[in-house]
Amino acid sequence: MRDLSRITCIEDLRVIARRRVPRMFYDYADSGAWTEGTYRANESDFQDIELRQRVAVNMEGRSLRTTMIGQDVAMPVAIAPTGLAGMQHADGEILGARAAKAFGIPFTLSTMSICSLEDIAEATGRHPFWFQLYVMKDRAFIERLIERARAANVSALQLTLDLQIIGQRHKDIKNGLSAPPKPTLKNLLDLATKPRWCWNMLGTERRTLRNIAGHVDGVTDMSSLSSWTADQFDPTLSWADVEWIKNRWGGPLILKGILDVEDARLAADSGADALIVSNHGGRQLDGAPSSISMLRDIAEAVGRRIEVWMDGGVRSGQDVLKARALGARGVLIGRSFLYGLGAFGQQGVTRALQIIEKELDLTMAFCGRTRIDDVGPEVLLRR
Ligand code: GLV
Repeated sequence: MRDLSRITCIEDLRVIARRRVPRMFYDYADSGAWTEGTYRANESDFQDIELRQRVAVNMEGRSLRTTMIGQDVAMPVAIAPTGLAGMQHADGEILGARAAKAFGIPFTLSTMSICSLEDIAEATGRHPFWFQLYVMKDRAFIERLIERARAANVSALQLTLDLQIIGQRHKDIKNGLSAPPKPTLKNLLDLATKPRWCWNMLGTERRTLRNIAGHVDGVTDMSSLSSWTADQFDPTLSWADVEWIKNRWGGPLILKGILDVEDARLAADSGADALIVSNHGGRQLDGAPSSISMLRDIAEAVGRRIEVWMDGGVRSGQDVLKARALGARGVLIGRSFLYGLGAFGQQGVTRALQIIEKELDLTMAFCGRTRIDDVGPEVLLRR
């Protein structure tokens, strides 16, 4: 075990991940669509929100425990689904799921993960986790995936609604992103500077999209996998498909990628259990508003009918408190998780969670609150 006590903020983890993770995978995580304006706004809009400092309030006996869709959580934070996490670090999704389990928060596995549903179930002793699903053209594959999720003890499904088509991320195209990386001279030179990553990767057999490879006829190698996947996102996705998946799954359903009040009303009408205010980490519609700037309106419009959560730009416990004050019952962390993972594997994910927990706890106290469930808009300054 390394001593990570001098890693004091998520930015520390990002800087180390940047050194340790092969360029194409670091870039994949740390980029947004086109100009990356929305990606940057997700973070910077948090900075414009001011907290109200209160003094001489008894700060003893604080608690961050709460629930998300009725499930107990140690703090109102869940790990977001992120593609290719198993390329930030060997077996990345397994390490993330283990860290989340030990911490007492939910872990969400992406459809586009390296480790499969079955890998996570086995590695965590069938501890319940969440699974993110895309609507793909191959509905038979979706049906099988839902059955596999059930068998793996998945306790909630997150349906992504904002990726019917893929936003262009310049760096992925320039880097020739693929998992595993192709043995080009450029990639080999880069890998030569990441010995720790290579060593860990040699110790695992999980190096491609295992929810898909081997589960679709004809999709076995990297090139058939990339072309199948790229062609599978369904541009015809509609609310009727949401209904279909809801019925097919029959368990708790979370709709991810809502950024508009009207869509939020439709999400509430759909009978889903929660919605996630999200612009996909600024990776889809560049020019869309930040998630945090849309949160209050959406929570006011539908917060009594459906749990409202958010993701995008959360890099600290202060951000979590601000989101909570603006109406989010929970937040999801994507990059904050990946930076920890890329920097130090499972220990890095745990460190990221500890950092956010401590910041959240102290920030809540400075704002004069002792229970996260009592935090409301009164902790924010309105001027
Ligand atoms: C997938 O969800 C991605 O944003 O790359």
